Amino acid sequence: STILSQSDFVDKNSLSYPFEERGLQFGDGVYEVIRIYNGEYYLLTEHVNRLFRSAEAIKINIPYHKEKMTELLYQLLEKNNMHTDGKVYLQITRGSAPRDHAFPHEVTPNIYAYLQDLPRNEKLLENGVKTISQRDVRWENCYIKSLNLLPNVLAKQTAKENDCYEAILHRDGVVTECSSSNIYLVKDGKVYTHPATNNILHGCVRMAIERFLKDENIPLIEEAFQLEDIQYADEMFLSSSTSEVLPVTQVDRVVIGNGEPGKITRTLQKAYEQDAK
Ligand code: PDD
Repeated sequence: STILSQSDFVDKNSLSYPFEERGLQFGDGVYEVIRIYNGEYYLLTEHVNRLFRSAEAIKINIPYHKEKMTELLYQLLEKNNMHTDGKVYLQITRGSAPRDHAFPHEVTPNIYAYLQDLPRNEKLLENGVKTISQRDVRWENCYIKSLNLLPNVLAKQTAKENDCYEAILHRDGVVTECSSSNIYLVKDGKVYTHPATNNILHGCVRMAIERFLKDENIPLIEEAFQLEDIQYADEMFLSSSTSEVLPVTQVDRVVIGNGEPGKITRTLQKAYEQDAK
């Protein structure tokens, strides 16, 4: 398959990186995961905006404008003749140069993007998932979609080892988000989620959910909830580009509601499907 490298298109097997690559040595870069349905990007503008915001936050100068980046991403779909459901992984690092913590002079960003098939996980969307709570040990700039994912990787692995789909992260009992998704709690017809501060990634699906809730006249309360609130939740769900709107039916030993995906969760799943069409 063909991948985007710098502003060129090359065969996937022909791309290699120098060992002194800052993305590898320092995690010095940013990335995006963008969902594709029927060969069309979903929430592309939101993702491109966030990519540029992340790059700017760590002082990486992307060598093109948003319009050019968008155009290159569309070309990537065309070159691969993509017509199914999938995702694109897009990565920008500060570049390759002799190892030095400080930014090297005259380093130029390395950019690549590639497509992968990703069928919708109908079974999980229908039945929901179990989760485990864990301490959020990440830094104070989680709004940057950076390549430094070790805490996320370790949290997700612990979840997996405990037969769970996701790790729900908390700082001193305050629930922030999950290892690779945003998290929501429904109580008395209102949806609660952590405000879009530096402590969470501002999810593109989270933005879409805000819009769906407005359309449905369901209040969204952007106030963090606590681990101890979970036992009283009517419903819970998580969101990401790969997981969509996914019901959460259990957190640690606590079964949410009656253990079935809730009504507001179902409403949002329907709204998502309509929007992604
Ligand atoms: N993860 N929070 C974190 C920590 C994430 O890594 C992600 C996305 C989200 C949801 O963001 P969005 O709605 O824009 O996908 C929230 C992607 C899918 C990943 O790393 O694979």
